[in-house]
Amino acid sequence: MVFPDARDVPVDPLSEQRLSGSGLDYRIVDLADPAAARAFVRAETRGFLDQEPDDESVRATVDMMAARRNVGVYAATAGSAVDALPVATVDSWVTPMTVPGGGHVPMWAISAVTVAGTHRRRGIARSLLEGELRAAVGAGIPVAGLTATEATIYGRYGFGPAAPVARVEVDARRAGGIAPEPTGVVEYVDREQLPEALSQVHERAREQRAGQIPGWPLRWMRLAGTAPGEEKGRAVRGAQYRDADGVVRGVLVYALEILDAEFGADLVIRHVVADAPEALRALWAFAVNHDLIRTVRADLQPVDDPLPWLVADQRAVRTTVHDHGWLRILDVPSALGARSYRAPLDLVIRVSDPLGFAEGSWRVRIGQDGAAVIEPTADAADIALDVAALSSLYLGGVSATTLRAAGRITATADSAASFDDAFGSASAPTLSIWY
Ligand SMILES: CC(C)(COP(=O)(O)OP(=O)(O)OC[C@H]1O[C@@H](n2cnc3c(N)ncnc32)[C@H](O)[C@@H]1OP(=O)(O)O)[C@@H](O)C(=O)NCCC(=O)NCCS
Repeated sequence: MVFPDARDVPVDPLSEQRLSGSGLDYRIVDLADPAAARAFVRAETRGFLDQEPDDESVRATVDMMAARRNVGVYAATAGSAVDALPVATVDSWVTPMTVPGGGHVPMWAISAVTVAGTHRRRGIARSLLEGELRAAVGAGIPVAGLTATEATIYGRYGFGPAAPVARVEVDARRAGGIAPEPTGVVEYVDREQLPEALSQVHERAREQRAGQIPGWPLRWMRLAGTAPGEEKGRAVRGAQYRDADGVVRGVLVYALEILDAEFGADLVIRHVVADAPEALRALWAFAVNHDLIRTVRADLQPVDDPLPWLVADQRAVRTTVHDHGWLRILDVPSALGARSYRAPLDLVIRVSDPLGFAEGSWRVRIGQDGAAVIEPTADAADIALDVAALSSLYLGGVSATTLRAAGRITATADSAASFDDAFGSASAPTLSIWY
């Protein structure tokens, strides 16, 4: 599948006009201009409360951003100074997202949403987000996605949490140990080799669960502690699982937090990825069975991870589920038509969308083969919901029965159950990285 390049999409004229009415200049940033690129990175870093980036970090971030459409908002008082920091930033790119059934949908990924402390609560974020969504629609992209630092910001633009994840904490002493895998080996990996190993295994593993997207080199370097500016990078260690044929099937990146008073340590997992169940089991065994460890902690795990079933005492595993991957459906027939389904279905959904993109009544017909055809209809609706709820349901990360119980959708119990039979999937959707 060839995806459009977000960098070819001009800024949204409506947001441009709105922001210019407030004396703000909304434009695509030319990263080829070093001063403008550096100012953009500094503004983004400041927005996320990070410390001032050094030159090497700026260079690494600019290299990564070169693959993205970077939009800045500039105060008129800054004149045309190229090194003026934008008062707001956003970047985006088009990426494949795995959908249930193993196919992909093109997704408009949105990142780097920041508004300067001096310019908050004036509607700038709204112009940025709506501008991104209109740009995505203009480029023919059916779904937008993001990860959110705060869970209360994006519902108003039609995003819904779609790929929940689990934060896990294992009481290693209570867990009772995990049986080592009879085949394959776990071996240490030097930090410098981790980014490549993570990238390779992730590229295969991301096909196995809905909600996953490809990573990029700087993402893996940051996890491995090898990116410029990673102050605690030297604390990072890595291990990998090689199967009986010698192929690397799983990678674990972790750091030990020493507990002086306990003569022990906590093992904090920065990332774990595996494309085979035995690889995942072997890496969990390595972490949980590690000597002198009090707890093993990890975030961004699938909500149906086998970990509680690997240990002798399930009460040793504390799991906190939280939102992570957020989606926003922009084109109902294309988005729903891109995934496959587990059961036939024939019903009408009525979708409300304040921004208009997904608005309408749609007949969803799913055949025995699991393929869907979605057409506009004037027939009465079986399920009425807003676009954020539909986006949350899209990957099967929550059921219609649950949203009905929460009063988030209107449907009979039978319609919700039929919807769930079709939309559910064998593995929970997930998203193992931040973007
Ligand atoms: C969050 C942030 C982008 C909001 O920018 P902003 O320009 O002040 O937002 P706007 O003025 O456009 O407000 C848009 C809406 O979001 C609401 N809102 C703004 N910040 C919010 C927050 N932190 N939590 C909840 N709602 C928020 C506003 O009340 C407004 O609601 P309304 O349109 O329903 O009236 C900005 O505060 C910021 O940069 N924060 C730090 C970086 C960050 O958290 N980025 C998000 C990355 S996922």
